Amino acid sequence: MKSPNPNPLSSMDEWEDDLLKRYPDPKMAKEKEAFRNYVDSDRDATVREFYQLNHQYQTYDFVESKEKDFLAFNKRKMSVWEALDYLNTLVDDSDPDIELDQLQHLLQTSEAIRKDGHPDWFVLTGLLHDLGKVLCLFGEPQWAVVGDTFPVGCRFSDKIVYPEFFTTNPDFSDERYSSKLGIYTQNCGLDQVKMSWGHDEYLYQIVKDYLPKPALYMIRYHSFYSQHREGAYDYLMNDEDREYFKWVNLFNPYDLYSKAPVPPDAKALKPYYEDLIAKYLPEKLMF
Ligand SMILES: [Fe+2]
Ligand SMILES: [Fe+2]
Repeated sequence: MKSPNPNPLSSMDEWEDDLLKRYPDPKMAKEKEAFRNYVDSDRDATVREFYQLNHQYQTYDFVESKEKDFLAFNKRKMSVWEALDYLNTLVDDSDPDIELDQLQHLLQTSEAIRKDGHPDWFVLTGLLHDLGKVLCLFGEPQWAVVGDTFPVGCRFSDKIVYPEFFTTNPDFSDERYSSKLGIYTQNCGLDQVKMSWGHDEYLYQIVKDYLPKPALYMIRYHSFYSQHREGAYDYLMNDEDREYFKWVNLFNPYDLYSKAPVPPDAKALKPYYEDLIAKYLPEKLMF
């Protein structure tokens, strides 16, 4: 048997493109049809392969081991803009004509938020939200960086994409973790809940002392589709989570639907964002 490719996606964006198929922009009825109709079985196959790995290996113990490693923050000291440049060195083997680079996605997200007149920390959140993807540059496999996130330590919801793949996850048949609540208590609050490991939690831990709470929720839970789109884990949420998930929901369309035909002019925008970064964040951050 051939051993599985640890990085089946030709680009991390393939996960996000797949999200657009699952959650098309309701404002774009025509494109919705196009998305539904476009047959791309190669891509579907790599996305499946990606989720197979993600669902198999994201166990409670795995998350703990990644926390131990990455929350030591001893990998690299960078300013936000250095981190953005670093993230942009990520070379994907996808078609460069159709794929935006990482910085362009972040700027499109933040610019769309800015255009709608939201507070500046919300704009900054748009710029930062995927910075945790530098995990890929630290050698982490795609399934431990991107993909929908979900709680570990309790039963996997069947509202998570490809739920059938969880049968290969050791936690699936571990009696500590396989009941509905697992190690948690009813409505204990998400702060008590370990999420599958990826770029959301990693960046949250890096910036948690610097940004307002709604921004932190948006960063920490933006890939938690089974909750913010499907409401699958209401029983773990407390009142505060419910309140702040309004922001997570407000953020999501900017993340998914802000692709503009003209890529943003990073050079022209940089001074504005450098000021905004300096307003909230220290000069250097530890990754
Ligand atoms: Fe993301
Ligand atoms: Fe994003």
